[in-house]
Amino acid sequence: MNDISFQAISKIYGKNERQFVALQGIDLAIAPKEFVAIVGPSGCGKTTLLRMAAGLDFPTDGEVLVKDKKISGPGPDRAVVFQQFALMPWKTVYDNIAFGLKCSGAPTKKIKEIVGHYINLMGLKGHENKYPHQLSGGMQQRVAIARSYAIDPAVLLMDEPFGALDAQTRTVMQEELVRLSRVNPRTVLFITHSVEEAVYLADRIVVMARNPGRIASIIDVKSIRQTEKWDELPIEDVMDLESFVHTRTAVWKLLKDQKHGNSDKPKVLKLEIIGENV
Ligand SMILES: Nc1ncnc2c1ncn2[C@@H]1O[C@H](COP(=O)(O)OP(=O)(O)O)[C@@H](O)[C@H]1O
Ligand SMILES: [Mg+2]
Repeated sequence: MNDISFQAISKIYGKNERQFVALQGIDLAIAPKEFVAIVGPSGCGKTTLLRMAAGLDFPTDGEVLVKDKKISGPGPDRAVVFQQFALMPWKTVYDNIAFGLKCSGAPTKKIKEIVGHYINLMGLKGHENKYPHQLSGGMQQRVAIARSYAIDPAVLLMDEPFGALDAQTRTVMQEELVRLSRVNPRTVLFITHSVEEAVYLADRIVVMARNPGRIASIIDVKSIRQTEKWDELPIEDVMDLESFVHTRTAVWKLLKDQKHGNSDKPKVLKLEIIGENV
């Protein structure tokens, strides 16, 4: 059973001569605990795809399934993290993280336990009673991530979650996400502009093309990440590894290729041995 599956999705905006095909022929299945990153030029339909998985938008044709069930709207089995953190400015860090749990009617003791756990895990200790405006961008995004993990969703949907952060904070967050994924594996659909970020985080990378929005290639990174033990090294060391550099170059080439419009069917690449297929 897949956690999310997009089946023959198309999305058309507008009517008649104003019609615009935002997505066409999207087939993608994401397995439980798999981390899938999507990269692609602006306007290729990444956000639309994620919003469909969230149940915030619906395809014109095709179906989006969560655990084999057709999506009818947002649900507690899926949490969304957007680029703009969307914290509630009138609530403290603690209450922002606790919000989803409170809505679900969890007992206070349980809420305390869970919120405390994520406050520690995300390095927010000592900031529980602060309000969002008293925090840096990086800390606000940590609160947003803690909030989404706290409701224990099967699926995390993240749309350029680190896009608004400075380079240094972004690196710290990427490392934290890898660490969190190891302690607490989740199914993740992660959209990013950064090829480097996708290679560092994902098991599989989906490269999209636009006009119409479609999948150009899919790159399997999982085996290379495991063989080369990326998750055991600090991010700067990973980014220096030959295996990382090769993978990054391969993804860049695929992105560049599709920009020139020479991909019909999705290419599937498996990067198992350094150098092969690259
Ligand atoms: N509600 C909408 N109405 C009309 N066009 C839309 C709407 N939402 C998105 N689009 C268009 O669909 C395309 C894909 O948008 P989006 O999913 O936001 O792309 P991405 O996230 O990859 O930049 C864009 O060309 C955008 O202008
Ligand atoms: Mg977008």
